[in-house]
Amino acid sequence: MNKAPSFAAFASSRLLVVGGSSGIGLATARIAAAHGAFVTVTGRSPDRVKAAVASISADTASASFDMTDEAEVEAFFATHPPFDHIVVTAAAIRSAPVRALSLDTARSTFASKFWGPYLIARFARLTDGGSLSLISGAAARRPRAGRGPVAAACAAVEALTKVLAVELAPVRVNCIAPGLVDTPMLRAAYDPNTPIPPQPVRRAALPEGIAFQILACAANPYMTGSIIDLDGGLSVM
Ligand SMILES: NC(=O)c1ccc[n+]([C@@H]2O[C@H](COP(=O)([O-])OP(=O)(O)OC[C@H]3O[C@@H](n4cnc5c(N)ncnc54)[C@H](OP(=O)(O)O)[C@@H]3O)[C@@H](O)[C@H]2O)c1
Repeated sequence: MNKAPSFAAFASSRLLVVGGSSGIGLATARIAAAHGAFVTVTGRSPDRVKAAVASISADTASASFDMTDEAEVEAFFATHPPFDHIVVTAAAIRSAPVRALSLDTARSTFASKFWGPYLIARFARLTDGGSLSLISGAAARRPRAGRGPVAAACAAVEALTKVLAVELAPVRVNCIAPGLVDTPMLRAAYDPNTPIPPQPVRRAALPEGIAFQILACAANPYMTGSIIDLDGGLSVM
């Protein structure tokens, strides 16, 4: 049946947030749980996952695995029933100019940002009409100095999104490209005394602002293969 999009559709759905122990993923998990979803939160650190789950709801489930480890990702999905929605916000990235960044660090950044989501897409079990939401970043199409591996990985995630939207149908696959979001990742990357890059909204987003859009993509039965710029206008400056 063709239903009008609504967050009410999350009630009793099974929703996995890979990277749900912090930032945008944690905000996504909280909003989905508030709309009645059975949420599973993952990250590498069991302690961070435990703390996140305690702040969401009593029936939130948890697991710890490294999404860049093929065997761990395969084992996780082999031991869990299919999910209705999967959101992959996890990433651990390092930024520096190409000539200053060691190849190992550049590779691990690319692996985290691209091969992690790739592995999730490879092994995830999703219900028909369910959704997979990926995160790129404004760097994909608005690159800045010092963002080489991240920008390349974000662009690769966007290309992968479109391929997956065809390959995984009727599962829907979308990608959000955030600008600057006030999370631990941003605070680690930016000195608080340094002004943020100019953008029309003149402030970083709250993680909830990105989470809201991720869930809007997941809840919209007509939406697949879409890349959503959610960057406070960064891409038009
Ligand atoms: N914040 C921004 O300004 C911004 C802008 C554009 C795009 N983005 C993108 O948005 C996404 C979320 O960013 P955020 O700011 O919310 O980050 P965050 O607060 O640092 O959270 C990252 C989450 O990913 C988990 N994680 C990292 N590496 C992992 C791995 N290999 N396997 C499993 N879990 C892993 C972390 O937990 P553990 O460390 O315990 O594993 C944590 O739960 C990222 O893809 C980021 O590139 C962020």
